[in-house]
Amino acid sequence: MTQPVRVGIVGLGTVGSGVVRLLMESADHITRHAGRPIVVERAVCRDPARDRGLRLPADRVSTDIRDVSRDPSITVAALLVGGLEPARSMMIDLLEHGKDVVTANKALLAEHGPELFELARKKGRSIAFEAAVAGGIPIVAAIAECLAANRIESIRGILNGTSNFILSTMEEEGADYADVLKLAQAKGFAEADPAMDVDGTDATQKLAILAHLAFGVWVPWGDIPRTGIEGVDSDLMAYAGELGYRIRLVAVASRSGGKLAMRLAPALVKVGTPLAETRGAYNAVSLVGDAVGRMFFHGLGAGQMPTASAVVADIIDTVVGRAAITFRTTGVLDTDGPAARMGGMDTLEKHFLRVCVNDLPGVLSRITGILGEHGISIASVIQHDPSGASGAAVPLVIMTHACSTAAVERAVAHIDASDVVSGKTVCLSVLDE
Ligand code: HSE
Repeated sequence: MTQPVRVGIVGLGTVGSGVVRLLMESADHITRHAGRPIVVERAVCRDPARDRGLRLPADRVSTDIRDVSRDPSITVAALLVGGLEPARSMMIDLLEHGKDVVTANKALLAEHGPELFELARKKGRSIAFEAAVAGGIPIVAAIAECLAANRIESIRGILNGTSNFILSTMEEEGADYADVLKLAQAKGFAEADPAMDVDGTDATQKLAILAHLAFGVWVPWGDIPRTGIEGVDSDLMAYAGELGYRIRLVAVASRSGGKLAMRLAPALVKVGTPLAETRGAYNAVSLVGDAVGRMFFHGLGAGQMPTASAVVADIIDTVVGRAAITFRTTGVLDTDGPAARMGGMDTLEKHFLRVCVNDLPGVLSRITGILGEHGISIASVIQHDPSGASGAAVPLVIMTHACSTAAVERAVAHIDASDVVSGKTVCLSVLDE
């Protein structure tokens, strides 16, 4: 039998424990794929004494990263701690000491990707990160390898399992936001700080990584316009449903007008389209390549074993040498081309507006008049018979025909500055495919 490959696991949280379990329980199958056994030589974590139900001998679990980085028998390390520090220092230590690294840490790559990739290349090592984006969906391999012949034109993705679980469960079961968030935490989808799931940070960081792969440019994730799901209420969901749509948190990156436009925001997606049928902790990516056309990827984007599936596949890829080849050519596209310039999102799209108006004569014509002044044509309007007295605040819901995002933003600012509204207008883009 060929000599085993010895790996170090850094972090034994939800994902790290899943990776150890998968490597041990599927050892025969993994050996066949890798051509040699893959052995967990050591795991390091904050609390080695905690019982995780793993078959790891106690003398192989310790607290010091150097037990992995300085062990010459270990060639591959899986860095499975979240956050920026000490994750960044650990990654540097592992690369400096000659380890190939596999990671699920999207925050680390989105924040420090250029520096870490450069160090890995300088040291002749690879970083594999399939698990960092969309959990079990092999979207990194798809873009970096399988679709390499294509110029990617656009990407749309549901990239956060927790927020998708919250939106779809609220919509289908009428459940309360706080209760569903607690359930997502109990199921192991949510980040240690779930604010990063619901405020869109997590999905935006994943979008920045996808953009690097697809367009060859590192966009600082903080520069990407971002709106989370905190403002989505059951009322909005009901109006969207009435119009034949659902609400999803959608990450968008597209080439437009010679520039790369990106954003993360709740959007209306048409019932029956793949994004609208993405429920629970599932993630989805819909992309357009110039040769292949539109493609759709769907699968569990969060949770212990879907993420472990991607990490272990990366470990196998590293062992057989595929990861090194892919890493050498990752993100080397278009860096001098138009995609390197970030532009505002000004595509032609339908928009959904919920304007909070005072129910008085002439108000509807004021609102539609403002939209008309900005060149925006209306497709449909909903105002339900209000139960309150005349003058009470009521929602007025408007669906526009396709129009410029920038024009809608100007119109909404104009509407919100007028004296006929009694609250801030919600404006969501509408995706029909
Ligand atoms: N908290 C993340 C999610 C886990 O809900 O998608 C995977 O990054």
